[in-house]
Amino acid sequence: MNRTYFWHGGDYNPEQWLKMPEILEKDLDAFQKAGINVVTLGMFSWDTLEPEEGRYEFGWLEDIVERLYERGIFVILGTPSGARPRWLAGKYPEVLRVNERRERNLYGGRHNHCYTSPIYREKVRNIDVELARRLGSHPGVLLWHLSNEYEGACHCPLCQEKFQEWLREKYGDIGRLNERWYTTFWSHRYNTFEEIESPSPLGEMDLHALVLDWKRFVTDRTADFIRAEKAAIRTYSDKPVTTNFMYDYEGLNYETLKADLDIISWDSYPLWHRGEEWRTALDTGFQHDYFRSLKHAPFLLMECSPSATNWQPVGKLRRPGMLFAAAMQAVAHGSDSVLYFQMRQSRGASEKFHGAVLDHYGETTTRVFREVAQTGAALKEIKEIAGSSVKAEAAVLFDRENDWAIQEAQGPRNAGMHYYDCVKKHYQALRCLGMDVDVLSADAELDRYKIVAAPMLYMMKEEQAKRLREFAGQGGILILTYWSGIVDETDLCYLGGTPHGLMEAAGVRSKEIDALYEEEENSAEAVRGNRLGLRKRYRCRNLCDLIETKGAEILMTYQKDFYAGQPAVTCKSWGKGKIFYVCADFEEMFYKDFYRLIVGTIPGLQRVEAEEGISVSAREKEKKRYLFLINFGRQPLRAEVPEKYRCLFGSGKMPMEPLSVYIYEMRLE
Ligand code: GAL
Ligand code: ZN
Repeated sequence: MNRTYFWHGGDYNPEQWLKMPEILEKDLDAFQKAGINVVTLGMFSWDTLEPEEGRYEFGWLEDIVERLYERGIFVILGTPSGARPRWLAGKYPEVLRVNERRERNLYGGRHNHCYTSPIYREKVRNIDVELARRLGSHPGVLLWHLSNEYEGACHCPLCQEKFQEWLREKYGDIGRLNERWYTTFWSHRYNTFEEIESPSPLGEMDLHALVLDWKRFVTDRTADFIRAEKAAIRTYSDKPVTTNFMYDYEGLNYETLKADLDIISWDSYPLWHRGEEWRTALDTGFQHDYFRSLKHAPFLLMECSPSATNWQPVGKLRRPGMLFAAAMQAVAHGSDSVLYFQMRQSRGASEKFHGAVLDHYGETTTRVFREVAQTGAALKEIKEIAGSSVKAEAAVLFDRENDWAIQEAQGPRNAGMHYYDCVKKHYQALRCLGMDVDVLSADAELDRYKIVAAPMLYMMKEEQAKRLREFAGQGGILILTYWSGIVDETDLCYLGGTPHGLMEAAGVRSKEIDALYEEEENSAEAVRGNRLGLRKRYRCRNLCDLIETKGAEILMTYQKDFYAGQPAVTCKSWGKGKIFYVCADFEEMFYKDFYRLIVGTIPGLQRVEAEEGISVSAREKEKKRYLFLINFGRQPLRAEVPEKYRCLFGSGKMPMEPLSVYIYEMRLE
């Protein structure tokens, strides 16, 4: 794949404009004006490509690919499986999805299909093969885009059967499943695999291990469908494949899906201008880092809105400069593209008021178009950075299976366990120290990091605990928190003390955990003369772990309630490293101070000091390090850029104006 320049473009649906050829011609001129070099075609085009079963009409698509290519515009080719034509659902009702109440859906919408149905698979395969045969080796086609935002689950009889098969393979015999699922509880023991049904509000929802395995199964089913689409493409084409992932989508474990994709891509729709932009930027940055870390390689920003996003509660316009700053943030975090949804705004149906590069007015004089063109010019200017990678020395673990398990668990706080928020507090504190951060699953290799935060690892598999122990043992700084090491992989509680597998290493045992009402809080104060140098008192909410220490130093203690005076933050040396244990859900300020002090003890970390609001990130390639500074604050802000950096893009003048972007380069010895 060509990584010598940034891809700039987006989703384009010429099939909506076939009766207005003059529009298509004008679009191509406009694309060139805006520095568009890639468009995504074919998504949701099934009916235009195959208006009747087996009758293909590919001429329009071949024609547009050709015309784009002549103008130096490349194509990401979508397979159309995300939405099916009416004739398909009419003739073969089994392709429609069945919901958890066991009701078969009516025709309509997207992703309203069964991933198991042999007929759906056959029809998808036929059209995918046809696409690959006709366009799979066209020099203008860069990449396959399988379907669109795979999502959801189907509970039809065919899927039930597959689920039973999946369970049989996993557990071997029903007795083992009963044991692992703890079915003695409420007399829910199964006699055969055939008796098992997917979770349903009409039936079983309380066996957490069942729900967990169902979620894993849904991911595996989707992966199997992805492989089927990929195999269809591979009959005639060896171009790389991707599919677009979604923001914090909890319906699938992307960790599992990544193996079948050549490159990761995702769709970013932040609620810009809702509150302070730098907060939105941190949240978006977390997602960029998560998707980049899946393969530790450059990813693609597959979609973002150039203006309003019409499915959000409020379709806020992006203020001048926002489109550009957001685009550059993606690049700063490792994206090799800035792709929009959509190139031309549709005239009808549900996306007619969604932002687009070309709106209904259709001219290139609009504010949005000009900013798109400015982004295109900038990407061209910095093209040498494309293909470079991010080398983070810090990582935060965010694990989807753990997230599922925490959500299902029932207790200690059904009013909100705040796993995502907790992870983000650790992440943000590290990011605000001006360093890159990888976001990893609990199964990731940790050798390359100096500091790893593993908050709320409620579900702790034996190997994961071992890896964490080894990481610290070999000199890493590890941060653990409350609600860790409680259950194994089928949500069975560990006996004999928690955090399981880490009690000895961290020098703590959790005795009880207190859950607080929304209106309640506690606080903790630093122990005088503690070795980390914490000095203040900080508020905490939601969850307070009551621990006993065995060899760990107590850095802070609770101030209120019956556990006043008991440990709230601890630290213990383990091998060549250290393990910190944070007992409560603290206010943000705590994490900021805590990580600043910890990072101060790690020699040689790569970081740049900047005022809060400036995002700092870096990419590396061929002996060069590229530093990106973006001011997401609302006032001018400063960063301390070391002298060895030379400014490549932007004035480099301090303070930086809001939404300005500076890029620097530095030679690596
Ligand atoms: C995405 C989807 C696109 C488009 C877009 C609108 O989730 O992949 O096809 O619908 O939303 O924001
Ligand atoms: Zn199904």
